[in-house]
Amino acid sequence: MKIIAIFASGNGTNAQRIMEYFSGSSQIKISLILSNKNDAYVLERAKNFKIESCVFDKSAFYESNKIIDILSDHNIDLIVLAGFLWLIPISLINKYKDKIINIHPALLPKYGGKGMYGMRVHQAVLEAKEKESGISIHYVNEFYDDGKIVFQSKCKVYPSDSPETLAERIHKLEHKHFAPVIEKLLMGKL
Ligand code: GAR
Repeated sequence: MKIIAIFASGNGTNAQRIMEYFSGSSQIKISLILSNKNDAYVLERAKNFKIESCVFDKSAFYESNKIIDILSDHNIDLIVLAGFLWLIPISLINKYKDKIINIHPALLPKYGGKGMYGMRVHQAVLEAKEKESGISIHYVNEFYDDGKIVFQSKCKVYPSDSPETLAERIHKLEHKHFAPVIEKLLMGKL
């Protein structure tokens, strides 16, 4: 059995999709949802799936071993960042080398980096009059949105798009691809 922990800061629609996708699996299990926000809706979603959750603050994340200890207790094989907005500390990256992945709502290396998340990304894509955007799933290193890309998928950007309509199109792509990509990674097929 391969065991996943998901980090999320907000709504958690990607986390929801991943929990649904693996809910009947005998090979892959989500055993922990972690969040830096105690009112993040993803925590409700975890409760609905009867998955344990954990909320932490900055000092626990950056100045203690609390998170590493919790992950070790759960024998985590893969850490999935699904809308998690804090930089991952180097201690965690070293401990989980090539075992942390992130999803980003644009075609990296464009439109990534510090401060580039959620609507801000779509706003920037529209301001640059891009004709296409998409999603990137990548390994996480000590920089924002910088690790090796494992998967990308594209969609069109229309002149009539608002950040909201583009976000919706991107979310659909994320929901379609993220869980199958995780499955392939864990099964050694990617
Ligand atoms: C997703 O679109 C994800 O790509 C983005 O946050 C959203 C979370 O949505 N992540 C970033 O922008 C990271 N730089 P969700 O909470 O509905 O899953």
